[in-house]
Amino acid sequence: MSIDLNARIPNNVDLADDRRLRRALESWQPSFLSWWKDLGPEGSIDYDVYLRTAISVEADGWANFDFVKMPEYRWGIFLAPPEEGRTIPFGEHKGERVWNEVPGEYRAPLRRLIVTQGDTEPASVEQQRLLGLTAPSMYDLRNLFQVNIEEGRHLWAMVYLLHAYFGRDGRDEAESMLERHSGDPDKPRILGAFNEETPDWLSYYMFTFFTDRDGKFQLSSLAESGFDPLARTCRFMLTEEGHHMFIGTTGIARVITRTCEVMKELKTEDPEKIRAAGAIDLATLQRYINFHFSVSLDLFGNELSTNAANYYTAGLKGRYEESKIDDDHQLNNDIYKVILFEDEKIKQSDQNALLAVNERLRDDYIADCQAGVDRWNKILKRNKTDYRFSLPHRGFNRSIGTFSDAKITTDGQVISGVDWSKRSRDWLPTREDREFVRSLMTKAVIEPGKFASWVAPPGRGINGQPLDFEYVRFH
Ligand SMILES: [Fe+2]
Ligand SMILES: [Fe+2]
Repeated sequence: MSIDLNARIPNNVDLADDRRLRRALESWQPSFLSWWKDLGPEGSIDYDVYLRTAISVEADGWANFDFVKMPEYRWGIFLAPPEEGRTIPFGEHKGERVWNEVPGEYRAPLRRLIVTQGDTEPASVEQQRLLGLTAPSMYDLRNLFQVNIEEGRHLWAMVYLLHAYFGRDGRDEAESMLERHSGDPDKPRILGAFNEETPDWLSYYMFTFFTDRDGKFQLSSLAESGFDPLARTCRFMLTEEGHHMFIGTTGIARVITRTCEVMKELKTEDPEKIRAAGAIDLATLQRYINFHFSVSLDLFGNELSTNAANYYTAGLKGRYEESKIDDDHQLNNDIYKVILFEDEKIKQSDQNALLAVNERLRDDYIADCQAGVDRWNKILKRNKTDYRFSLPHRGFNRSIGTFSDAKITTDGQVISGVDWSKRSRDWLPTREDREFVRSLMTKAVIEPGKFASWVAPPGRGINGQPLDFEYVRFH
């Protein structure tokens, strides 16, 4: 598989040999660039940013680090190498050769899966466009831009599939990707969580931890697809996605570390005193966790879903780490335990495993989130603090699925709507919390090596560079 890095659109899909496709993508490129200039990171057009660019698909050495002006970033189309003799790993076509063209009968559902995934990529860039103005350090600013640039590349990845495999409809869908905008009342992004703004850096870290992690699980299940170009595209996107979640995991860890330092210095756990010292108290962090976890859980859809079952049976979207699961990968006679809200109670019951593939993905996601929470709790323990973070109950604050009609506390008690309105401010970030967090972030900290009062420096710099490296040159 040859990589053409010098082409107008860098790629490893032999664009040079496909005039029609190349022209179609080249005609989409100006729309993408004008979208980036309008809705990409505010005021960043002339900055030189120390960015990683994908230049290969090999596990080692796929990335190159250098200073780039973001509008000149080499957004490319890269698919992981094909696996020799790969067969469809699940569903009714299990064991058949993977498809390199879209099977006619699956055209509509495949397009829908690709559009839904693709739509989230530019959405997050739009959600985050003002954050650079209040970055807690040059290191964080660079990381924000890195994520934004790569979400842009993920959009390219999905637009490539639409253009290459879906003809006229695909081209129309690619146009629509730039016409819907996050939070636009007339043309919103497809999924709810991608229409919420990311108003501050704590929300941003939470977003990269919880919401980019939803992306990891969606991409992982699409990476199992019998439609091989989709599987290979997603496999390569996952290598980039790892860094986005790293920003969330370590970002929140750095906030906790800083809070612990302040608690030690002041010998107090009193939230007011911690806030007065310019750090974020632990209870506020927990409320942000509760919020971001619950809205990200909604992204997995209904607990029982015939759509998801159909995608699975058709071989379009698998389970997380499908090949490591020890079963028949068809699930016709299998059951899966699902927690549902029925007769005003939270009940676990055996359900048809095919209908429950969304729920299984959500369970895998929850376990992955828990590992992050455990890591944060180790910081608290090391600092001899009694406080511990936890994930709220899966039914807490949900808008989609069985719990959307219920009022559930963070520890899984069913309560009345009246109780909910009295108590939810203990569990979700209040207006005061958000105003306080925002008050810490009124301007960007841009001297190399300096960090805002509310966040500790990271353990190390990017690509072996020192922490006081000039990651962004403003000119
Ligand atoms: Fe992405
Ligand atoms: Fe991401």
